[in-house]
Formats: sequence, C-alpha cells, structure tokens
Amino acid sequence: MIIASELKSIMKAITYHHYGPPAVLHLTTVPKPKIKSGEVLVKVRAVAVTAADSRLRGARFPAGFNLIARLIFGITAPRQQILGSSFSGEVVAVGEKVSKFAVGDAVFGMKGFSLGAYAEFLKISQDQAMVKKPQSLSHPQAAALTFGGTTALFFLRDLAQVKYGQRVLVNGASGAVGSSAVQIAKALGGVVTAVCGPKNLQLVASLGVDQVLDYTQVDVRQQSSQYDVVLDAVGNVTFADCERIIKPNGKCLLVVAGLPKMLQAVIHTHRSPKGISYLTGTASETKKDIQFLTDLCAQGKLDPVLSKVFPFDQVVEAHQLVDTGHKVGNIVLDLDGLGEMKVDFKG
Ligand SMILES: NC(=O)c1ccc[n+]([C@@H]2O[C@H](COP(=O)([O-])OP(=O)(O)OC[C@H]3O[C@@H](n4cnc5c(N)ncnc54)[C@H](OP(=O)(O)O)[C@@H]3O)[C@@H](O)[C@H]2O)c1
Repeated sequence: MIIASELKSIMKAITYHHYGPPAVLHLTTVPKPKIKSGEVLVKVRAVAVTAADSRLRGARFPAGFNLIARLIFGITAPRQQILGSSFSGEVVAVGEKVSKFAVGDAVFGMKGFSLGAYAEFLKISQDQAMVKKPQSLSHPQAAALTFGGTTALFFLRDLAQVKYGQRVLVNGASGAVGSSAVQIAKALGGVVTAVCGPKNLQLVASLGVDQVLDYTQVDVRQQSSQYDVVLDAVGNVTFADCERIIKPNGKCLLVVAGLPKMLQAVIHTHRSPKGISYLTGTASETKKDIQFLTDLCAQGKLDPVLSKVFPFDQVVEAHQLVDTGHKVGNIVLDLDGLGEMKVDFKG
C-alpha cells in the first residue's frame, strides 16, 4: 500500500562525503529509499544527534577499533553517507509482507549501524528496533529516548543486573547516557548518586536521584563511599579508583572503552582483590528494549531529557554542540518546515 508522498523519487537528506568536522555535513537531495516486501517506509519527523553520530562523522573511533571501524564504515570516506539512528516519524508505505505496522502509524526506533535517519524518509524492516509511538511522547521526545535509554538498559539491567537497594553511582549523569542511566537505575530499585557539572545539578536532581555531586567540588573517585555498581559514562574513572569506591564483588560499567581498556577490564576482573567485575561492551538495539523504555515512560519512571531541538538545516550547529562533550541530555533535529529549507547542492 502506498500514499501520495511515496510517489516522489527524491528526498532531502543530510549527507557527508568525507570524515571531518561538522562542516562536512550538507542538506541536499538524494534518491528516496525503495522498500522491499518486509520493509516499512517512514517519513522522519525528528532524529537525535548523538555522540555516536559525531564519532562516525569525525572518524573518531574508540582506541584500537580504527581499522575494523574503517573496514565497516568506509576506509577513507564514509560508505553510508547519511548518518542518524534514533528516529521518530510516521509510516507512509509498507511492503506486501508487512503485518506489524500500517500506513499512518506513528513509530520510533533505531537504525543501528545501518544509519540513514538524517533524511526525510528512511526504510526499515518491520522486525528491526521500531515500535509504535505513544501519543504521550512527542516525535522529538521519542527520538531522544532511545540512544541513551538502550545503552543504560544494556549496562545496568543486562550487564550489572542492578537489584533493589543497591547503591549505584553514575558518572556523567547529565549526558544522553547518564540522564537515562540515573532514571533506569532508580526504576530497577537502585539508590542513586549522580555526578555532573555545576550547571546541571538542578536538572539531574529533578530526575529523582538520591544524591547529586558536583564534580568541580567533590572528587567522588577519592571518597570513601562504597557503591555496588559504578557506571562511568565519561571515561575518567580508573581501575584504582574502582577498587577504592566499589564494594567487594561489585561491578564497574565502562561505557567508554576502546580495545586496550576492554582487555585491561578482563585482566583487572581476574586480578581484582575485591572481586570486582569490570564490564564493557557495545549496546545494541531491539524492539523489546525500545518497548521496555516506552513502558517505563508510561509508568512515569523515565522522561527523556531533551535540551535542544534544532531545525534540520542547522545540523552543523547541532554537531558542534555534541562535539563540546557537554551537551545536556539529548538534542534532536526537527524535520518540520523541511519544505522551506534551502538545499545545498555542493554536498
Ligand atoms: N558502549 C556503548 O555502547 C556506548 C553507547 C552510547 C554511548 N557511548 C559513549 O558514552 C559516552 C557518553 O555518551 P553521551 O551520549 O552520554 O555523551 P554526552 O551526552 O555528550 O554526555 C557527556 C557527559 O559527560 C559529562 N562530563 C564531561 N566531562 C566530565 C567530567 N570531567 N566529569 C564528569 N562528567 C563529565 C558532561 O557533563 P557536564 O556538561 O556537566 O560536564 C556530559 O553530560 C560517549 O563517549 C559515547 O561514545 C558508549
């Protein structure tokens, strides 16, 4: 089944042809994706701009992963020239074998490594990480929910298996991952201490944490407090710090870890005098997890932090903000008003 907007064969998209600074991104026109029988065509209404997008754009891959990442994403230039994973939008066409979605459904989800969401339309298999969007979430909120949300679920629920009453420390609590992590740790029953900068203390406190610490005033790594689980979304907590602040048999979640740190994590786990497990990995996205996040939102346990919505053609400014390393929660590109946006044919 198709509707009128499917009939156009081109669409607007943000593309990049070289790895580099935010200015490599351009609003241009490209062919519209063609769907296969099990796929859905989504008209994108909002798309998150994430730390992962920024890393890919600049070819700033985690230490030790440069070669493999370039083999996957393009050796000297990006193979997939449209970034973007976390999207929200409306189904405008479905393949003949699609049974889970219908034209007109509001949906949101993640494209993962296949990317392609910085575009007017995207195609996605009906079995991939996409669910129906509840009315209680706006398109920008839905786009903001999944990147940090799926990462926090992977580390806290799946790797650490946080249990009721456990003390959880979240370092980098004001970012996309951290602001989701503090809320998900609370939802899992944790007693949560959050670490963030002075500008974000009030915001992070409003997320329902038990204690907020300003990293310019208190160095939590040197304190005598003892945590069951430490989630480091910044990458500045050392193994020695963890041995000091984590309880015996506790867990350290290293969200920011290249290959050397991953290998060190295995060694330190075997050698830890306190039996601490150092856990690393890459979060993946599933329909089930996105539905889990949606349910947490419906229960009032999770509210995605959305600090800024940029018009689609201000993608360069959005990436500049991500590149500071100090964005607050999530930022999103809004595709409303796309018709009036000037297309750059230099692409
Ligand atoms: N392993 C995985 O699967 C996975 C998945 C997603 C993301 N990541 C990685 O996780 C990291 C965080 O991602 P994100 O999206 O949350 O980034 P983000 O939104 O840019 O947040 C970074 C946060 O770090 C905080 N920060 C910066 N310097 C700090 C310091 N010295 N002490 C404490 N906090 C500090 C910032 O807070 P202030 O502004 O208050 O300083 C900011 O809120 C990125 O490196 C990303 O690549 C890994």
